[in-house]
Amino acid sequence: MKRIAAVVLALCAACVVAASPALAKKQIKIGLSISDFETERWPVEQAIMTKLAHEQGAQLISQVANHDAKLQNDQIENMVLQGVDVIIIIAEDGAAAASAVESAARDGIPCIAYDRLVKSDKLAAYISFDNVEVGRTQARGVLNKTDKGNFVMLGGSPTDNNAVLFRKGQMEIIQPLVDKGQIKIVADQWVENWSPANATKIMENILTAQQNKVDAVVASNDGTALGALQAMKAQGLAGKVPISGQDATAAGCKSIVEDELTMTVYKDVRLLSPMAIDMAIKLAQGEKVEGLKDFSLKELTLDDKLKGNVPCKFLKVVGVDKTNVYDEIVKSSFQKYDDIYKDIPEDKRPPRP
Ligand code: GAL
Repeated sequence: MKRIAAVVLALCAACVVAASPALAKKQIKIGLSISDFETERWPVEQAIMTKLAHEQGAQLISQVANHDAKLQNDQIENMVLQGVDVIIIIAEDGAAAASAVESAARDGIPCIAYDRLVKSDKLAAYISFDNVEVGRTQARGVLNKTDKGNFVMLGGSPTDNNAVLFRKGQMEIIQPLVDKGQIKIVADQWVENWSPANATKIMENILTAQQNKVDAVVASNDGTALGALQAMKAQGLAGKVPISGQDATAAGCKSIVEDELTMTVYKDVRLLSPMAIDMAIKLAQGEKVEGLKDFSLKELTLDDKLKGNVPCKFLKVVGVDKTNVYDEIVKSSFQKYDDIYKDIPEDKRPPRP
């Protein structure tokens, strides 16, 4: 008797599960692996992605690697063991992370490279902004102020493939003027970990070596530019020597309205993060992701030795300086009015949007 009851009960349960797909459908688990929290944008994008994943019924587990590429790989492998269905990676080191992506792919776990390329053709997708155009925009922003003299090239983290693409764009604009002898590149350095403190030290040494005879600085993001500006300020050069940035950070935009940082590059991460979560959920459900275009690793890395292709999508970027920071950044609520104008006298501020 008991046995018949058990069979009937099991059958009923099976019917209920079959009847309600929601019950049957396993909750999607997304892994988010983040290089560091030193740069202003990463915690912002983590929060956006976490909220969106939850809104779509998915779970999101994230881990920060504090600029430690080996730790990041361990964290990614651990996420696979924890049963994630897909992983979004903000890579500390694009080359080092390839082995973690390939190991996850072997276990059937798709990986999305977010903003920064992981140098593997086993990626399910690479989504970012037009990083070469970022570099062109930075160089044009500086040349708007001066197009001759002693230039300093301040690159980003050498392990970040984006830094190479920013530099490619910068040199496309600057090199012809170097060839004409109009510009002399007196220093060319890359900033470990994109660290502002490293940028300050590097700029101090360059200014000493050049006896402050520097006419412009092509820096690769707001953090390192503001670091360099610390050293320039100490020599009375801040606001006199044009310098570029990137990311439209609160501190960067504030420095622009105070006439120190010359320009930044606005990349609306409120477009990139939702794209990552939508793609992750599709991949986790085994669905095809539309709108991706194949690029070779060779053209993405400028390294002829790398083989294979990666499906990619790149978003547009906008150059921002004192003339459009209010319209592009404040009115779009990318940054807060008070964060940018707090040290500008009330009567010199634009109206509160
Ligand atoms: C780059 C990113 C930039 C900048 C930098 C420092 O990869 O594209 O937006 O933030 O890292 O984290």
